[in-house]
Amino acid sequence: MAKRLIVGVSGASGAPIAVELLRQLREHHPGIETHLVVSRGAELTLRQECGMDVEELRALAGVFHKNDEIGASIASGSFQIMGMVIVPCSMKTVAGIASGYSDNLLLRAADVCLKERRKLVLCAREAPLSTIHLRNLYELGRMGAVILPPVLTYYQRPESVEDMTRHIVGKLLDQFGLDCPGFRRWEG
Ligand SMILES: Cc1cc2nc3c(=O)[nH]c(=O)nc-3n(C[C@H](O)[C@H](O)[C@H](O)COP(=O)(O)O)c2cc1C
Repeated sequence: MAKRLIVGVSGASGAPIAVELLRQLREHHPGIETHLVVSRGAELTLRQECGMDVEELRALAGVFHKNDEIGASIASGSFQIMGMVIVPCSMKTVAGIASGYSDNLLLRAADVCLKERRKLVLCAREAPLSTIHLRNLYELGRMGAVILPPVLTYYQRPESVEDMTRHIVGKLLDQFGLDCPGFRRWEG
């Protein structure tokens, strides 16, 4: 299988997690070709939470796809990839994937992952979660997606938000068998 990973970024809170994930991939896994697709909502959260524009995020990725380019390579099941992570994943994007309503490239790429039975990891974020959100996440879990919300973890004694962020990134990369230096596992 080709060493390519799709990184989708949607408009939920948590843009710094996407930035850190791309940095980790670039620094520690240069052999993996990252394919980045960013939603319109994510452009806003990126600016609000990181003070960054899409161009700066794009510089961290291997290949960048515009979200309206529905004919891009990652829109096809014949384009070989390891899988896709959507980080953060908004409830609108969750709803789009759960219903198969693929009206942008990010949604289409996720849809392809499901139909090809490839790994799809959703760093889904909202609080509190409505019954609609829970139903969609439940359905996606049943369809094989990994629901990995960016929840706080205290057992590794984080000293900063960056520590917390790195821990979530470590868990996301773990889903693809990729190491994340500094990710502290529970050893009992
Ligand atoms: C600053 C900010 C934070 C947001 N946080 C969340 C969130 O945590 N979860 C969520 O589902 N939507 C959140 N939203 C709303 C989504 O961005 C909005 O529903 C958008 O249409 C999602 O579209 P997308 O999935 O195509 O990015 C937030 C919006 C803004 C501006």
